[in-house]
Amino acid sequence: MSLSRPLPKVIGHRGAAARAPENTLAGLRTAAALGAGMVEFDTKLTGDGVPILLHDSLVDRTTDGSGPVRDMGLAAVRALDAGAWFGPGFAGEPVPTLAQALSLALRLGLAVNIEIKPCDGREVETAEAALAVAAQVWPADRPAPLVSSYSREALRAVRRIRPDWPRGLLFGTPPADWMAQVDDLAPATINVSQRRLTADRVARLRAAGRPVLAYTVNDPARARALFDIGVAAVFTDAPDTILAGLGDGV
Ligand code: G3P
Ligand code: MG
Repeated sequence: MSLSRPLPKVIGHRGAAARAPENTLAGLRTAAALGAGMVEFDTKLTGDGVPILLHDSLVDRTTDGSGPVRDMGLAAVRALDAGAWFGPGFAGEPVPTLAQALSLALRLGLAVNIEIKPCDGREVETAEAALAVAAQVWPADRPAPLVSSYSREALRAVRRIRPDWPRGLLFGTPPADWMAQVDDLAPATINVSQRRLTADRVARLRAAGRPVLAYTVNDPARARALFDIGVAAVFTDAPDTILAGLGDGV
């Protein structure tokens, strides 16, 4: 399934992770206020199966709690502070549910990339739960979210459940069989670590007929260089910096 509308060139990464705590509603608000037209965030399941926004399998780095999120129910996760670690102005910011994040993105007019970031062994379950929530929240007449993952199992589940929603195939370094994976999963986009992107590699990836997206780009000169070699969009922690650096070129 291809994209339902052109991508903005600048996508807020985990909201706007350099400007507000990652994967929070404050992060989404900040990304929108800084001019990002689209945000990416990571979703995984609580112990009782509710999709929330969180990057790591442990809550330690981004909240005041500790331990694996898979061992915590929604109530325990919701009691965590996901903002104070970033700065006192964000104290009390909770871990949002995916439903809350999607609802806010709609209100803010942000396009969305849901990255399915399952805990090990929960790949299919995470995709199913995330898409069930998205189907409830996201209006059918709005361009569908881009749903990405490093997990092939999760992407296969996404294709089975919502074949009409665009998928993003995530790579750190594209492996030798990347083209076979593209053929197998039929993604709308190929999302790659910017560190791996040379002009030659971008050209080869683009030959597969999909836009190439680069993460995570916080240096405007690097963003410009990536656009020059054919990258379609960059994920950035600092949308304001990248947009300012690009000037009228966005
Ligand atoms: O989706 C792009 C990027 O977010 C992938 O890496 O680890 O930041 O989720 P990560
Ligand atoms: Mg991510």
